[in-house]
Amino acid sequence: MPAQPYQPRRLWRDVTLFDGYVTLPEPMAVMVAGESIERVMPMRELDRTEAEACETMGQGGVMTPGLVDCHTHLVYGGNRAEEFEKRLEGVSYEEIARQGGGILSTVNATRAASESELFELARPRLEALIREGITTVEIKSGYGLTVDDELKMLRVARRLGEALPVRVVTTLLGAHALPPEYAGDSDGYIDLVCREMIPTAAEQGLADAVDVFCEKIAFSVAQCERVFEAAEAHGLPIKAHAEQLSNLGGSAMAARHGALSADHIEYLDEAGVAALRKAGSTAVLLPGAFHTLRETQRPPIAALREAGVPMALATDANPGSSPLFMPTLMLNFACTLFRLTPQEALVGMTAHGARALGLHDRSLGRIVEGAPADLCLWDVDTPAELAYAVQPGRLRQRIFKGGVTHG
Ligand code: NIG
Ligand code: FE
Repeated sequence: MPAQPYQPRRLWRDVTLFDGYVTLPEPMAVMVAGESIERVMPMRELDRTEAEACETMGQGGVMTPGLVDCHTHLVYGGNRAEEFEKRLEGVSYEEIARQGGGILSTVNATRAASESELFELARPRLEALIREGITTVEIKSGYGLTVDDELKMLRVARRLGEALPVRVVTTLLGAHALPPEYAGDSDGYIDLVCREMIPTAAEQGLADAVDVFCEKIAFSVAQCERVFEAAEAHGLPIKAHAEQLSNLGGSAMAARHGALSADHIEYLDEAGVAALRKAGSTAVLLPGAFHTLRETQRPPIAALREAGVPMALATDANPGSSPLFMPTLMLNFACTLFRLTPQEALVGMTAHGARALGLHDRSLGRIVEGAPADLCLWDVDTPAELAYAVQPGRLRQRIFKGGVTHG
């Protein structure tokens, strides 16, 4: 075996550490070897000789795990500024969808775009997330709605992860909307998703999970359940857009299938909360969509908290319901709109974000020994300030797989 080039351990000293769950009560030191966190210790335990053998990379500031955005739709063509104006005039998201606009207008633009065009369009969106501390991002398909166009989107997502310093997790969202060529035959389209899209995406290793949109303007609980059965047959974990606009029971059904997460969930009821708790699924909160659609029904935060359902937080970055590419704004929205504490919001974008992606087994989203060294060092005095002020530019250093990518 060729000898590894010598690389000193890297050390961050005197940081206020939020470890993915809590803020440690005293100044901490974090030591990184290769791509992983080797040691996390109070400063008073840091041995001087040992420290001198390390390369000191940073001192002071607040250190958090690299942020995890567990729900995005970053790959798409076109934009929906016109729809934004219509909604401001009082036309609802649902009405626009029923008129063939909304998601379907993005489908047209996405189908018309080549793979490299989609890549170039998505790159600056992802770079915006990276600049704000995202080190793991989930990217969904769902604007192709043919086998070829869905695979095209997933390939773009994979390529983004190869080109940029960020972990990309892909999700096949074939059951996002009914494409016009299947009008009046939604079961026929679900057949296509189950019999062709899922098997091909699985065979080509393009999807890490399968998602559905369970809603009156999308697919029924029974149709979504068929999609989940196909995903299970191909060994793919599942998640659901559910209870966003109405309470159909999609989250409870997804939970019965062991879903990683139920996302949006503004209209989730007590039974839905209990189902998530029983299944160990994560509730993914998307205050960007709540804000953009000027929704008034809040997710049942108190009940989720009471039941101990892990709450994750994501941007839902997409051209329609959440054209928002700023993770720290979501920390603020989670507190101001959904009444999370700043700590809960941060857990939502670190440890619980990783859980919603099934990555918590590898300690992703945590600062503990053995976890991947994905870290953010912020120019603030306390972690709560990240949620308190909406102020880009506070990321002093971003560390991905042990290497400093910014700062
Ligand atoms: O997460 N709810 C459905 N899907 C996306 C929105 C997609 C769109 O409007 O383009 C969401 O909100
Ligand atoms: Fe979404």
